[in-house]
Amino acid sequence: MNTTAPTSASADGLNIDRFERVSLGHLMTEIEAMPRLSAHLGGPNLFIKRDDCTGLATGGNKTRKLEFLVGEAVAEGADMLVTQGAVQSNHVRQTAAAACKVGMKCHALLERRVPKHDDNYESSGNVFLDKLFGATLEHRPAGLDMNAEAMAVTEKLRSEGHKPYFIPGGGSNPTGALGYAVCAEEIVAQENDLDKPFDWLVMATGSTGTHAGLLAGFQMLNRDLPIMGISVRQPREKQIAAVHGLTQRTLAKLGGTEISEDKVIVDDGYVGEGYGIPAGSTIEAIHLSARQEGLLLDPVYSAKGMAGLIGLVRDGFFKPTDNVLFLHTGGSSALPAYEETLLSRTG
Ligand SMILES: Cc1ncc(COP(=O)(O)O)c(C=O)c1O
Repeated sequence: MNTTAPTSASADGLNIDRFERVSLGHLMTEIEAMPRLSAHLGGPNLFIKRDDCTGLATGGNKTRKLEFLVGEAVAEGADMLVTQGAVQSNHVRQTAAAACKVGMKCHALLERRVPKHDDNYESSGNVFLDKLFGATLEHRPAGLDMNAEAMAVTEKLRSEGHKPYFIPGGGSNPTGALGYAVCAEEIVAQENDLDKPFDWLVMATGSTGTHAGLLAGFQMLNRDLPIMGISVRQPREKQIAAVHGLTQRTLAKLGGTEISEDKVIVDDGYVGEGYGIPAGSTIEAIHLSARQEGLLLDPVYSAKGMAGLIGLVRDGFFKPTDNVLFLHTGGSSALPAYEETLLSRTG
């Protein structure tokens, strides 16, 4: 197996080939203009990076992280990936698929984190796909330290003779974040084709690996592109501290210099009632993106990110001439679990 697959743009700036890696995704992903949404909002020039099209099991942001995490698991001789997430976790679905692709088993702990949900939330969407990929699943109530739970299960499996490799929730550690340092490098290469570089990048931020990897990557490449992270769960201050911590650890892994906390920008105004509960702005973002640009967003992450982008445009946050890039992090396979909610409301 090739554990150092050169699947992205030139990796010289990050010297990424020193890290273990397997090829799981279709990289680099496209950047497209969103002219109809831009015109509808009367806002700046909106673009979208299609990380929903990374290719692994309906795509999404975990593919990039898993290239490095599974690379490490293969190098360690693991035979099983162990991880955790919410019931409709995209991370668990993609980890289960990645395990199949490299001939490993996958065991996942699902947290019943979302209090209000459709009847089919526990069985359709990502849960159905987890089972299709043969993952074994066990549940936990809301509010536990899920990484600690999953680590305890990993040790139990090890004592039973398995060779498990533990992946934290969302694949968010310095190894996983390398995947988004690579994405930063792609964006720098792709913006060379534009009349003018991007002024902002907007994205959903949750378990922090995507945000931290991008910040670390841009810092390594000396590209000062401001990133607006739209929180899907935590209050602003908590999310900033978490993203900053992982960015520092990722930079240490890459051999970079420290980054100041004021580079971490988070807006927590689009969380609504909480993780996994779509707000009116989330549902509007799903309908608007579908009808204006033919895009599928998910109600937990990418639509909260898009709701943030829409809200910022409406608030006049961007200049009319700005080039604003939205990172589509995937998640559409959770849509069937929200069918009743999404068809009964438009905002
Ligand atoms: C579709 C989607 N978008 C965004 C995110 C957030 O990314 P991160 O957890 O790296 O902050 C996730 C995480 O699970 C996700 O599944």
